[in-house]
Amino acid sequence: VRVDELSTPAVVVDVDVMEANVRRMASRAAAAGIALRPHGKTHKTAEVARVQLAAGAVGLTLAKTSEAETLVAAAGIEDVFLAYPIVGADKGRRLLALSDRVRLAVGVDSVEGARTLAEVFAEAGRSLDVLLKIDVGFHRVGVVPEQAAAMARRIADLRGLRIRGVFTHAGQGYGGQTPAEVAAIGRGESRLTREAAEAIRAAGIPVEVISVGSTPTAASAIAAGGITEARPGSYVFNDASEVELGTCPVEECALTVVATVVSVPAPDRAVLDAGSKTVSNDPLRPRAGSFGHVLGTRSRLARLSEEHGVIAVAEGDTFRVGQRVRVLPNHCCAVANLHDRLFAVRGDVVEDTWPVIARGKVD
Ligand SMILES: Cc1ncc(COP(=O)(O)O)c(C=O)c1O
Repeated sequence: VRVDELSTPAVVVDVDVMEANVRRMASRAAAAGIALRPHGKTHKTAEVARVQLAAGAVGLTLAKTSEAETLVAAAGIEDVFLAYPIVGADKGRRLLALSDRVRLAVGVDSVEGARTLAEVFAEAGRSLDVLLKIDVGFHRVGVVPEQAAAMARRIADLRGLRIRGVFTHAGQGYGGQTPAEVAAIGRGESRLTREAAEAIRAAGIPVEVISVGSTPTAASAIAAGGITEARPGSYVFNDASEVELGTCPVEECALTVVATVVSVPAPDRAVLDAGSKTVSNDPLRPRAGSFGHVLGTRSRLARLSEEHGVIAVAEGDTFRVGQRVRVLPNHCCAVANLHDRLFAVRGDVVEDTWPVIARGKVD
């Protein structure tokens, strides 16, 4: 089957571009002497996980317990870190079962949350590795660096848990207005996480892992040194936001949406069969503006409803009903999560179909 023959809309992954992205990040981590643990939420597939592991990834990062249950069973992953504050005895029991099958660690950022997992593991006479989440400026979850040592002490005192390290996600990098600003955020991400680790060590608690991770800050955070692990996710596919931020050129974007023009009601307006249920309505970063670039044109998706993607036709561009286009979406992770399958293509040939088995795994 050729890409032209796919029923639209369809999400295609250019495998050559994806493999180059995987190799580039693997080399960057290897050159710095640190571990790479890609975030699997971007692709949610066993096939892409295997490519990352074959290129030297030490294991996978995931967010949710059910993502781990699904991907561990399907992809033979041996090492998983859930980079999320997991809370609840129900989750604790599932993590206990999972820890029979993989080397496991999870995120924590509170004593109350950590205790819900500690009790399950202590009762079973087992121990769960945890990484303390440090807030380096995203202000989502995590303890501020100044509180890291005190919180680590209280968590280390819980029977059933062992502190393996610290981790952070500098999501504020997606708001960086210039590449220089993003790079400064990446350097700060490394420095603050390392300082938190040093404070915890000074309190007498060993810290094996200092883990940072986001795609825009990956290069600068790794170059800054002092960390042991990076966890980028989006880098495997990239998207319009990474291009806008200056993280990568369009040529390094592996995931696109093939869509058909279904209506041209006015010279300045063309409509695709791909709306928010296909390309997601995530905003373009760092500045909102459009919902996807129509590749090979200057036109953008200006407006979405569920099944319609409205292109604001740029001067010099023309669209006709029935024409197929490729859209570069704003956020690759959100797009993968909306689809049952990704079509793996080399050039114009569809080589394989990858089921997005961990989509919708939210618990
Ligand atoms: C905790 C955590 N780690 C790593 C990542 C990967 O970030 P990115 O997709 O920018 O590579 C994310 C993404 O949201 C995250 O939340």
